[in-house]
Amino acid sequence: MSKPTQDLIKEHGGIMLMLSIMGKVADSLRQGQEVKREHLEKIVEFLKNFADKCHHGKEESILFPELAKNIANQKLINDFLGEHKSGRDYIRGIAESLPQYAPGNPDAIHIATNADGYIRLLTEHIKKENTVLFPIADKELSEEMQTELFKKFETLEHDVIGEGKHEEYHGWLKELESEYLS
Ligand SMILES: [Fe+2]
Ligand SMILES: [Fe+2]
Repeated sequence: MSKPTQDLIKEHGGIMLMLSIMGKVADSLRQGQEVKREHLEKIVEFLKNFADKCHHGKEESILFPELAKNIANQKLINDFLGEHKSGRDYIRGIAESLPQYAPGNPDAIHIATNADGYIRLLTEHIKKENTVLFPIADKELSEEMQTELFKKFETLEHDVIGEGKHEEYHGWLKELESEYLS
């Protein structure tokens, strides 16, 4: 059986790798070193489409509503939704400064500050989903329901990201990893 939580945990792995890359990029920006605009643009697109639209989309429109049917889970779900919203604010902060970015200018610092905030937020958020929320989902949702949710995930991924794009994003991760983490 394909588990919806396993799919999300796998995506968390990709997002965590991007957070590590962003940490190095933020250090370079703060030190006034040049970071290629193309790399910053790829980071923003990855966060907007892969992390937010696709991954958070699966959680917000498919998994969370099912878990929120149990009143005991509602407070927890609301906390997670609030964190997704804060994440969007950080991404917007990075995207807004991108057009004016030049090494060492205030926009470089603004991008680094928002990247730091996003890294801190998502690191805790992902840890909490993996260790608190997903075990609840595995326990409370029937096998049939989990299979149904997984199918909905596949449809959303196809509709939101489209054919081939997922692989392309993983290619970007590899490219940025060898540039900043090796
Ligand atoms: Fe989440
Ligand atoms: Fe998540």
